[in-house]
Amino acid sequence: MCNCAELFENVMKDFAGQTKTNPAQYQESSFQESQLIPILQKLQEAFGYLPQEVIKKLSEKTGIFVSQIMGVVTFYSQFRLQPVGDNIIRVCFGTACHVIGAENVADAICRELEVKLGDTTEDKMFTVESVACLGCCSLAPVIMINEETHGRLTPDSARSAIREFKDKKHA
Ligand code: FES
Repeated sequence: MCNCAELFENVMKDFAGQTKTNPAQYQESSFQESQLIPILQKLQEAFGYLPQEVIKKLSEKTGIFVSQIMGVVTFYSQFRLQPVGDNIIRVCFGTACHVIGAENVADAICRELEVKLGDTTEDKMFTVESVACLGCCSLAPVIMINEETHGRLTPDSARSAIREFKDKKHA
């Protein structure tokens, strides 16, 4: 599995005693499905995303069916099944942002980076995601570049924010 067996085992060590190695045991075990989310979070932290191999391995380790794990992974937007770029741009499509022009902002960013919404740039520098409310609706339309919030954007100022960020990175 992607030469990362050790990494996987390291993460799983923290949850020792909460998983079962025999799938049959799981049916009757007291394994708390609520543990699945923290485990997935830790695995994602370690791998940067959740590779299929990791999900399979997790299924073997916990006895939880891959389909159940996938149900959780695809339900929560925090989980990623694809590798991401070094920097994440989150474009808010919540109601406030949507009505004030999130679409145009997203379009400007995607054109600037030559990438589709949800995808990663070829150089792996950015992943552009759409998200629901970022919690600062008064600044709509809003994006976040990693932890940095940029508000009251126009397509032009969004492009500038990306360029400035790139310049800072290359400085
Ligand atoms: S709707 Fe965009 S920050 Fe709330």
